[in-house]
Amino acid sequence: MSRTVIVLAAGEGKRMKSALPKMLHPLLGRSLVGHVLAAAAPLAAARVIAVVGNRADQVTAHLTEIAPAVETVLQEQQNGTGHAVRIALPGDADGTVIVLNGDVPLLGAATLQALVDAHEKAGAAATVLAAEVANPTGLGRIVRGTDGLLQHIVEERDATQEQRAIREINAGIYAFDAALLRGALGSLNAHNDQGEEYLTDVFGALVAQGRAVGVHVADDADETLGCNDRAELAHLRSLLRDRINTRLMRDGVTINDPATTWIDVTVNVGRDAVIEPNTQLKGATEVGEGSVIGPDVTLIDTVVGEGAKVVRAHAELAEIGDGANVGPFAYLRPGTTLGRKSKVGTFVELKNSSLGEGTKVPHLSYLGDTTVGEQSNIGAGNLTANYNGTTKSRTTIGSHVKTSCDTTFVAPVTIGDGAYTAAGSVIDKDVPAGALAVARAHQRNIEGWVARARAGTAAAEAAKNAAKEAE
Ligand code: UD1
Ligand code: MG
Repeated sequence: MSRTVIVLAAGEGKRMKSALPKMLHPLLGRSLVGHVLAAAAPLAAARVIAVVGNRADQVTAHLTEIAPAVETVLQEQQNGTGHAVRIALPGDADGTVIVLNGDVPLLGAATLQALVDAHEKAGAAATVLAAEVANPTGLGRIVRGTDGLLQHIVEERDATQEQRAIREINAGIYAFDAALLRGALGSLNAHNDQGEEYLTDVFGALVAQGRAVGVHVADDADETLGCNDRAELAHLRSLLRDRINTRLMRDGVTINDPATTWIDVTVNVGRDAVIEPNTQLKGATEVGEGSVIGPDVTLIDTVVGEGAKVVRAHAELAEIGDGANVGPFAYLRPGTTLGRKSKVGTFVELKNSSLGEGTKVPHLSYLGDTTVGEQSNIGAGNLTANYNGTTKSRTTIGSHVKTSCDTTFVAPVTIGDGAYTAAGSVIDKDVPAGALAVARAHQRNIEGWVARARAGTAAAEAAKNAAKEAE
């Protein structure tokens, strides 16, 4: 059966009090509307149409980025959900039309599929997704007759006292027969408290025509929660966090403190990985089997191999090889690639740099635009001077190199395989393979200087005592 999806995303989202349109607020890896589109993706609809209105430019640009196949229809004035669907419904749409509120991000693909299956199997004119909730305030209510069948849907503000006591609510997710929807939309009016065309009135209209309409009750009412303000957004975020963490734990990931572990829906984590407290895994991040991540780690679009360990670190657009060791207190910036069993230690920052297998940068270093070969050891406090104020240049360090403490590399510069540098060297010329590079002033000791130039100080006294003891 042919399917068309219409996503309603023209509303203002006033209560978010935000410069960012409500639909674009991020929620663990996707925008609100992005979650809704993801839930609808498995329906394999011929067309997906989003109705945009408020800050339409921003919403359209976002949709183009995340789902280029989605078409948009501009609703200049938000005259209601019925009006929105009326202008979006293609003249030639047939089969099933699925309408989704754009602000119901926890809606699961399986729940949506079950709604559509129930609707198509029953050959219904329209089917609404409903849920039984503890607090129905502000939502449309499902009004059933004595036979238990849906009679109509009433908005809270138009409801009688008796109807307000109903706890079965309209989730704002529907399946319609395209032709019957088209007919019913033509007869909508705005005779209600808000003076808007209500999509929900289609149900009453179809019932009046003697058509079969259905109610599909969601197994999990949380999936139907909408988002209207930032407190609700935070609540949705914690619910989604728990869902993602539970799924991963069931798949064999150890999460030691689920309450402080925030993993985007887009992230993959392998079996027997261990996630320690206060860890965020975002975007296109992947963690391989048996790796230990955390505590206090943020990984953004970062790929971690198997059996790696990352402790108290922040990484973005980086690759961490199998068995590599990162942190504590490391910062991996975009373009960092760490080879197998390499190490990036404490207070080390890497940018656009790669370390070969087994190479170590254990302490207090910055490497920018640098390539290091295999099994090299970068001493404590090494720095690359990769930027001269106008251009950036590369530093190339070979394999089995040992640089001593406090070496500075003035790029562009190349260090050959097996070379050494002396402590405190400023290396601005290439070092041949196997050479020791020494680039610092030689030390001279001016004997007796303190006694002459700092007479009467504690230092002079200490020096005098030391001389006596040596006699
Ligand atoms: C709607 C339903 C209500 C249901 C609730 C679930 C109607 C009349 N009421 O109420 O029964 O319980 O959703 O959350 O449909 N929108 C447009 N154009 C418009 C108006 C709205 O695109 O002219 C979009 C909004 O951006 C939003 C969705 O439609 O994504 C729902 O609109 P909203 O104003 O939030 O409706 P509710 O009052 O929540
Ligand atoms: Mg709403």
